[in-house]
Amino acid sequence: MADIILGIESSCDDTSAAVISDGVMLSNVIASQDVHKAYGGVIPELASRAHQLNIVPVVSEALARAGVKASELSAIAFTRGPGLLGSLLVGTSFAKALSVAVDCPLVEVNHLQGHLLAGFVQQKDVPFVHPKFPYLCLLVSGGNSQIVRVDSPLKFEILGQTIDDAVGEAFDKCSKMMGLGYPGGPIVDRLAKQGNPTRFKFAKPHIPGYDYSFSGIKTSLLYFVRDQLAENPSFMEENKEDICASFQRHLIDILMDKLIKAARDTGISEVTIGGGVSANSELRARLQEEGRKRGWNTYLPEFKFTTDNAAMIAIAGYYHYLAGERASLSVAPAARAADL
Ligand code: KG4
Repeated sequence: MADIILGIESSCDDTSAAVISDGVMLSNVIASQDVHKAYGGVIPELASRAHQLNIVPVVSEALARAGVKASELSAIAFTRGPGLLGSLLVGTSFAKALSVAVDCPLVEVNHLQGHLLAGFVQQKDVPFVHPKFPYLCLLVSGGNSQIVRVDSPLKFEILGQTIDDAVGEAFDKCSKMMGLGYPGGPIVDRLAKQGNPTRFKFAKPHIPGYDYSFSGIKTSLLYFVRDQLAENPSFMEENKEDICASFQRHLIDILMDKLIKAARDTGISEVTIGGGVSANSELRARLQEEGRKRGWNTYLPEFKFTTDNAAMIAIAGYYHYLAGERASLSVAPAARAADL
């Protein structure tokens, strides 16, 4: 009999449910929350309310598209954390309720592990190409910037991470500062394609090891723009493509420098990326270019798996399920990775 897993993801501002059968994706439904656009960032209170509205229809849709009844599930995998507590509570509570209702085991999943294993979701009629263990994953999103060594589906080690803001926040802040909209990453990415990436220079942070820091970079962009605007009030409008291209190049240089160092020091040549920022066109091209130069095998996630989605939670949950792990009904969500 097939192992059928329902995945539930609600860590931030996407409500998602997916069904996989023996590792093959049958459905992956995502309801994104437009309500945050007006505020230029995710408002936790609004995110939890939207999850409450979305969770039942999203799970029903995922089961219907998969052609699976809740009573046929082998396990329900849910994101326990890290993320926004109010958001996580919705997915966790729903997963518990459904597990009682259909008498089915619960499996907890670390959201980050979902991103690390996104490449292991099999799809009908799509070649199954995934990194071989051990591999390095540059995990970059609105909440994380990490270099992770992955030794098996259940064993991973964070080699380095941001000591302050995530790189996605730097993209979002850049866009907000320039009045371009939210989320900023895709907008900066699009404008950068028409700009000169070497025109403006920003200071690089000096952080030891494989760690990152992005908060000073946001501030240096703020001062740079302020000084330029004092001399020319139309500076932003006249130069937005070059500013986006230069700022994006700067962020990607920082990300890649540490990834290259980690690959060199560990001797690992299987390299992948994940998280919302891994949709960035320059980062994707750069990973492949560095891979060619350095003899790495590189893996790019499909766009639908870069952002938060429940298929990656279901596949991570599947491996935990196979290993015999089960969560108890008293499990509580954990906002911080350290509490998982
Ligand atoms: O993983 P994700 O969907 O969720 C959070 O961690 O919140 O990542 C969202 C982040 C946002 O900061 C967004 O601006 C960024 O991913 N992002 C991008 C691109 N697409 C999304 N950043 C750079 N280039 C992109 N094309």
